[in-house]
Formats: sequence, structure tokens, C-alpha cells
Amino acid sequence: MKRIFLAAVCAASMMMAVSAATTPAWLDESLPLEQRIDDLLPRLTLDEKIALIHAQSKFSSPGVARLGIPTFWTDDGPHGVRPDVLWDQWEQAGATNDSCVAFPALTCLAATWNPSVAHRYGVSLGEEARYRGKDMILGPGVNIYRTPLNGRNFEYMGEDPYLAAQMVAPYVKGLQSQGVSACVKHFALNNNEFERHNTNIILDDRALYEIYLPAFKAAVQQGGAWAIMGAYNLYQNQHLCHNKRMLCDILKGEWGFDGVVVSDWGGAHDTPEAIANGLDMEFGTWTNGLSEGARNAYDNYYLALPYKKLLQEGKVSMATLDEKVRRVLRLMMRTTLTTRPRGSMCSDEHYQTARQVAAEGIVLLKNDKNLLPINPAKHRRILVVGENAIKMMTVGGGSSSLKAQHEILPLDGLKTRLAGLAEVDYARGYVGDPTGEYNGVTTGQSLKDDRTPDQLIAEACDKARQADIVVFVGGLNKSLGQDAEDSDRQSYALPYDQNRLIEALAKANKNLVVVNISGNAVEMPWRKQVPAIVQGWFLGSETGTALARILMGDDNPSGKLPFSWYEKLEDCGAHAIGQYPGTKRADENIWDEEYREGIYVGYRWLDKVKRKAAFAFGHGMSYTTFTLKQGQITPGNGDVLYTANVQVTNTGKRAGSEVVQLYITDIDASVDRPEKELKGFQKVFLQPGETRVVSIPITRQDLSYYNAVQQRWIAEPGEFIARLGTASDNLPIQLKFRLD
Ligand code: BGC
Repeated sequence: MKRIFLAAVCAASMMMAVSAATTPAWLDESLPLEQRIDDLLPRLTLDEKIALIHAQSKFSSPGVARLGIPTFWTDDGPHGVRPDVLWDQWEQAGATNDSCVAFPALTCLAATWNPSVAHRYGVSLGEEARYRGKDMILGPGVNIYRTPLNGRNFEYMGEDPYLAAQMVAPYVKGLQSQGVSACVKHFALNNNEFERHNTNIILDDRALYEIYLPAFKAAVQQGGAWAIMGAYNLYQNQHLCHNKRMLCDILKGEWGFDGVVVSDWGGAHDTPEAIANGLDMEFGTWTNGLSEGARNAYDNYYLALPYKKLLQEGKVSMATLDEKVRRVLRLMMRTTLTTRPRGSMCSDEHYQTARQVAAEGIVLLKNDKNLLPINPAKHRRILVVGENAIKMMTVGGGSSSLKAQHEILPLDGLKTRLAGLAEVDYARGYVGDPTGEYNGVTTGQSLKDDRTPDQLIAEACDKARQADIVVFVGGLNKSLGQDAEDSDRQSYALPYDQNRLIEALAKANKNLVVVNISGNAVEMPWRKQVPAIVQGWFLGSETGTALARILMGDDNPSGKLPFSWYEKLEDCGAHAIGQYPGTKRADENIWDEEYREGIYVGYRWLDKVKRKAAFAFGHGMSYTTFTLKQGQITPGNGDVLYTANVQVTNTGKRAGSEVVQLYITDIDASVDRPEKELKGFQKVFLQPGETRVVSIPITRQDLSYYNAVQQRWIAEPGEFIARLGTASDNLPIQLKFRLD
């Protein structure tokens, strides 16, 4: 702590000294960025340059105290601002002002299918980050949902490149509007956690360009991201934090990225490679095999003294270092060296943002006989069952773990909402993980329960028989082996014997609602026996309020699945024909993992093999009904070749939102193409009886596939179909058009 204080004092006094003389060009915010950098770069010594490109603590790099350039602070990300840890340790710094608003996880954000909500999320998070003095948030994550076993899917935006691209760009813009850099992660192909440092991904270029890169490209080109984080794993036998093809050729070459490539923590492994292959800032955790707490750990980073030595020996050029420093200075000009908003923390507005994301992201998967919403006139005795109804979920899961100012639990949310209207009872039902601690942040909950599964099931079923409606709140949690970093799920099935409990509850009471809390799909063998199913995600601070509002019908559900909910794990291409995990090489600890399914990820695979999902990509119900009519294709102009138009009417009795989805089929393709691909969507809010025309543009890019031989996107002339509807398995309107 002493070190931080001294650095701050130095920076402040230098700033005063500088402003007393004539303002140097680099401090003049009215000048173009590059001119400011041209002025600043030559003022730096070699040591200062080297210091700028690697960490000085767990989450900071030093700036240049001599010139008054402040320390640069990063922090996780992506669901709220992580609590402050010690300078050199993962344990808590013990701050008392670092409790934040925990926003819903990114899978929930993706499920809103509402880019303006993503923008609002970014702005609110940026305001929290500013208030906490952070200059970069380590997020958002946009690795594609390739397998439901990936422990980190909850931090990402689903299986579809188009959806993820549309959602990530506004998040980045919103965050950066506050003068806080996004750090889009983990670039790229980090699609599972098992052996994440040692897995070498093998895939064809078509899959790379069509599936795994578009969201990153959108974050860079549409969102204007100022930083990107390399992934831990390997591609073409080279670690992705210093991967020539990915960082130099694609990111900085093809996409023209002018920002900073940050290593994932401890993701750098080699100085010459890191120098040559595009890494600009090294962060980490005891890299280079250093033992914990070595006094000069940061000096030994790959981009620290080892780099300086190579420079002094004339083995690498100063120009390459200057190029990295230029990028870092650009990042600082955009953040710490610019006038920016001061931010705010835990404001009512931020909680409203959290509630809106949750309200629009919760997905009503099934609702037979309109069991939901709960009607207190009919449902006088309500039984809530399940550990996730009482377990705090903002703590845990890895680096996105938070210290929330408050977290409203599902049971409490329902009790508050139903106070005076109905009786709410609770039964535990199962014991999952009663602990709650991450890096020294503890939930303070005592969830220990020594009863046997049989006893817990018997109690829950006895109570269920007396109730008018039963709300089971279960699913996964953020413990290792569930939805958590650094491990994958061991199985597609629900853990802790929950299937047995749910089946017993379904027999005890026909009015059973299952609320599944997770960032991943889970196997639901009881799906047909349960009348109502809600996908609740990890909703953060406002979990209980948001869930209660949906279950009670205060908010009308409008979330849509951002991934296919497979009936069985084998229905997923990665498991049917792809490889997961990789296979270990005989002679070294590298696992080769081949994405043999290629572009056939998610619904693209299900369409190809003619299998139905339990719940399709894009599926999500409402308490009202919508019809789509009068589809029409009209010619566009400029970049827009055509516009697909359709009339949407709210034919039910409640106001609500529907997401009109456009998928394109290339009928005359000369190459293998997916049966259909999402290429547009729009969320519309309609009063009962109201009709609106939704118009979705179709561009040449929307018709294109990536030709790996020619290394370019091609739209082939011929016939196409625009399919419009409200889910990937419900596309009633089909309109043919031609590209000449
Ligand atoms: C994670 C990153 C995270 C970083 C810093 C790494 O282990 O993979 O997502 O931003 O740690 O906490």
C-alpha cells in the first residue's frame, strides 16, 4: 500500500511541475492523438519504455512517474468491477469501498438480444470502473460456445458469431465512453478450460473466419476496442499471447487494430516470440516459473529485463519496442491521459441496469397451460425448493468473482414480492456446495446441511404435496467443475442428484416450475414431466428481484437462448465428430484438439444432422403471443442489397417484446453451407393488439462464406431464402430472392 501512495504523490507533484512550464504537446488534449504520441515517445528512456510494457503488480503497470503519467490500473471484468487484491497476491487488499453492483453474466446479456441493453451495461460498468479508479476492464469475453462443458461459457455470449458480434460492439462502446478501456478476451479459440495452457487447437480457416473470429472482429472494428487479451492456449503450435498469425497477421494486419494486446495472466512464455509476435503488455502471475513472491518477479517477466538484454545485445530492434510503446501510449491517451467522467458506484441507475438486463435475458423455456405467471389468487401456498434459491452466486467462478454490495437471493425476492399475498415456504431439496469463498471474499452464508439426499427429497416432496405451486431453483453453481474458470464440467447432467429430486417433485405436485441457474445448458431428462421451465442464468446483485418479477408476470419474459439446448451431449457437433478435449502427445504435455465439426457449431450442426434441440437457439417464450405476417423482400440501396420486412402483432393480452430473427439460406451454393445462418434480428416491444413492421437489412456480407483458398469472403450469385420468425426452429416466413 505504501508503494501505491508514494507513486501517487510523485505523479501529482510531477504533474504540477509540468503544467508550470509551457504545456508539452503530449499533454495537449486538443491535438490529434498521434501527434501527442510523437511528442511523448522520444522523451522516454529505455527503462521507462520497458516498464510500460509489463506489469508492476497483479493488476497494474507503472506509467511514468517522472513525467506524471499515472499508474495504469486494470481489473476484471466482465460482470462488475472485481474487488481490490493485494499488490502481489490474489488475496484481498481489505478495502472497504470496493463492493460493486454485480451485473448479470454475459450469457444473460446475450439472451436479451438487445444491443441497446448491451450498451447500457457497458456504460454502467464503465461508471463503476471509473469510480474505482480502473482504466481497463478485463472483458467482455466472446469465445464461442462450442461445447456445453466449457466451464467459462457463462462469461461469453453464446454459440452464434453474428449474435455475439452484435452484442459485443455496443458493450465495448458503452464501457469506453467512460474513458475505460475494454480488453476483449480471450483471443482466440479458448473454447474450453481443460488443459487451457497446453491445448493446441487445430481447425480449418473457414471455421476460424466464419465462427470463431467475427465477434472479436466486431469488437475491434465496430466497437473500437482499445485492447484485446490473448488466450492461454495454442494455435498452430504457438501460444496465443504471442501468436504470429492471430496477432500480427489477422488482428493488427487484416483488421487494422491500433490498440494493445495484453497477455492473459501468465500467458506469455517466450521473450523473442513475445517481442516479434504482437504482444504489447505482459501481465501475469509469477511467470517464468518464479516462485511466489520473488522480490523482483516483475523484472523477470518476458517483456522486462530479458527484453532489455536482447535490445542491449543488439539482437532485437528498438523500432519494435517503440511500436509496442506507441500502442501503450495510445491506450493511455485514450484513458489516463484524457479528461474523463469521474464515474459513480452502486447507484440506483446501475441497479436498474442490472434489473433490465436480467428482465430481458431470463428465458421462459416452457410454460404448459400457462402455469406461469404465479397467480396469488390461485396459488396461495408456494413452496420454493433448492440450494440455488438461497446460495449467493456472485462469489466464485474464477476471475469474474465479485464482492457485491448486495445480492438478493431468489427465495428472498419471492418472499418480498409475495408478502401479504401468499404463503412462501422453503425446502432445501439437495445439498450442492455449501461453501462460498473466493480469493478471500466470503459470502458469510452458512449452508451446511448434514441430512441425506433421501431425507432432503422426502421433506421437499412432503411439503410439495401441500403446496399450490412448487418453484424449484437449482442448476449449476460457480464451484470448480461447474460454471467456473480453470475447469470444465465433468458431465452434461445436473450435479448433486438434482434429477432424482426434480422427478420426485414432479410426481408430488403437477404445478412444478423449474428455474435453472447456470451459464450452460444442462441435460433435462424430466423435461416432458415438468410444465414450466425458466432459464435463470447468473443474475448478479438483483437476482431475486428479477426472478420474482418474471415469475409473477411484472416483467414479461423476452429472453431468447443464445445457444442450442441439446437433448444429449452427443447432439453437439464437438462431441459427435469433433474432438473434446484434445489428445495428449506422447512426448510432451501438449493436447491437440481438432475442431473436426468445422463451421457446424450449435444449430448449424443440428440442422446438418437433422436433429432437434430440446430448446432451439433463439427460442424463448412470452406471457403474450405474437404473430408474424406479410413477409416481403424489397430492394435496398448502397451496402444494403435487400430488406426483409414483416408485420409483427401482439395477439395476446399483455404488453411484451418479441425478437424477430432473420436467417439466410444459400440455395445455389457451390460449396457446403449451413442450412441457415442468423444474419439479422430486431427486438420490438408491443402493446396488446399493436402491430409493427420490422425491416431487417441484408448485405452482401450476410450472403457470403469464407473461401479459404482465396482467403476472402465470397457471395455467390444465385437464389437465397430469407427465413423470418421468432426462433431458429420457428421460421414461418420464407422469402426467396436472388443475387445476380
Ligand atoms: C483469466 C482472465 C482474467 C485474468 C486476470 C486469468 O486467469 O483467464 O480472464 O482476466 O486471469 O484475473
